[in-house]
Amino acid sequence: MSDQARIFSTLKELSEACGVSGFEEEVRQLIREKMEEFSDEVSVDKLGNVIAKIKGKDEGFKVMLAAHMDEIGLMVKHIEKNGFLRFVPVGGVNPVMLVGQRVLVITRKGKIRGVVGTRPPHLLTPEEAKKAPEIKNLFIDIGAKSKEEAEKMGVRIGDVVTLERDLVRLGNGSIVTGKAFDDRIGVAIMIEAMRALSEERPLATTYAVATVQEEVGCRGAQVSAFKIHPSMAIVLDITAANDVAGVEERDYIVRLGAGPAIKVMDVISGSFLGLIAHPKVRDLLIKTAEEEGIPYQLEILVGGSTDAATIHLVREGIPSGVVSIPTRYAHSPTEVLSLDDAVNAVKLVTKAIRRVRPEDLSYQ
Ligand code: CO
Ligand code: ZN
Repeated sequence: MSDQARIFSTLKELSEACGVSGFEEEVRQLIREKMEEFSDEVSVDKLGNVIAKIKGKDEGFKVMLAAHMDEIGLMVKHIEKNGFLRFVPVGGVNPVMLVGQRVLVITRKGKIRGVVGTRPPHLLTPEEAKKAPEIKNLFIDIGAKSKEEAEKMGVRIGDVVTLERDLVRLGNGSIVTGKAFDDRIGVAIMIEAMRALSEERPLATTYAVATVQEEVGCRGAQVSAFKIHPSMAIVLDITAANDVAGVEERDYIVRLGAGPAIKVMDVISGSFLGLIAHPKVRDLLIKTAEEEGIPYQLEILVGGSTDAATIHLVREGIPSGVVSIPTRYAHSPTEVLSLDDAVNAVKLVTKAIRRVRPEDLSYQ
C-alpha cells in the first residue's frame, strides 16, 4: 500500500468514528488497536489518553508526540415534551454550520440519527432571514413524538452528539473532505510516524499520545506530558488554510498542498494563551525539512492554539514545537485537506526524531 493510501484509509476510519471531548471511547479503541500492531507498550491513563511507546537506543532521552483524538460536538441539555432535543456546544461550534446537518446522538442504547431542524424560508420574515442562527434556538429532531418516546430510544441529559459525515475525495488527486480532520489527521500521521520509527529505531525513546479534551482546553495533554516528562514535544494538529475565494494572499496563513507547516507562533485571540514554538525545536524541524527535501511552510496563527500551549508549561518547561496540517473550514462537517501534506508531515516528524540529540535542545 502506498503512504498516501495508508493515510487515506486510517483517516477515513478515524474521522468517521465518534469522540466528542470527554467521551472519546469509540475512537480511543480504534487508536489503541492500531498502535498495538507495532508499539512496544500501549496504555490508557486515568483521563483516557492513549500512550504508545517505541523504545530507542537511549531510554532516558524521551520525545513526546501528541495529537488530540477528541472532536467538537454537542451535548443534550433538555428533552422537550414533543420529543425535540435542546443542546449546548462542546468546544468551538459555529451555529451557522449546524443548521440542516445530520447528527448522531450517542445514547446508552447506541447511536441514533437526528437532524438539526431549521425553519423553511417560506416561514421566515425578511428580518429573520438575515439573522445568523443562535444555538439556544436550535434543536435536534430524532423522529420521536414525545419526551417519553425519546427516553425509550435511550436519550438522556448529557448524551453527546456528533456530526454524521463520510470522508470522500474531491477531484482526482489527493484532496479529501469530511468531519473531525481536526485532529484525526494528526492522529493518523502520528500512527504512521510511530510505525516508521518501530522499523528503524532512533536514539530517542518516543511516546505518542492521542490526547483527550483538547477542544475544551488541552486537558489530556497537560497530564500526559507530566507523566512522560519528555525532553522535547512535537504536536501534530491542523491549522487554518485560508487560501480560498475572496481572501487576500496576506491573510492565507498557510496554503493547502504546499507542505506541512512548521509553527512559529500562535495565540488565542484577545489573550496571551498560545505558544511561541521553542526556537531549537522549530529550527530542528526547518533544518530537517531543508536537508531532506521535504516541502514546508512557516505558520503564524492568530485565533487558535494546540496542545503545545499547555505541554510547554508542564514541570520545569518542555521545549515544544508543532507540525500543522493546512486545513480549510475547520470545525465543520466539510473540512478539506491534502493527503500530500499529511504524507510529508509523516516524513518530517520521523526524520526529525531520528536526528535529534539531547544537546540540540539546550541553551547552554
Ligand atoms: Co479544533
Ligand atoms: Zn485541533
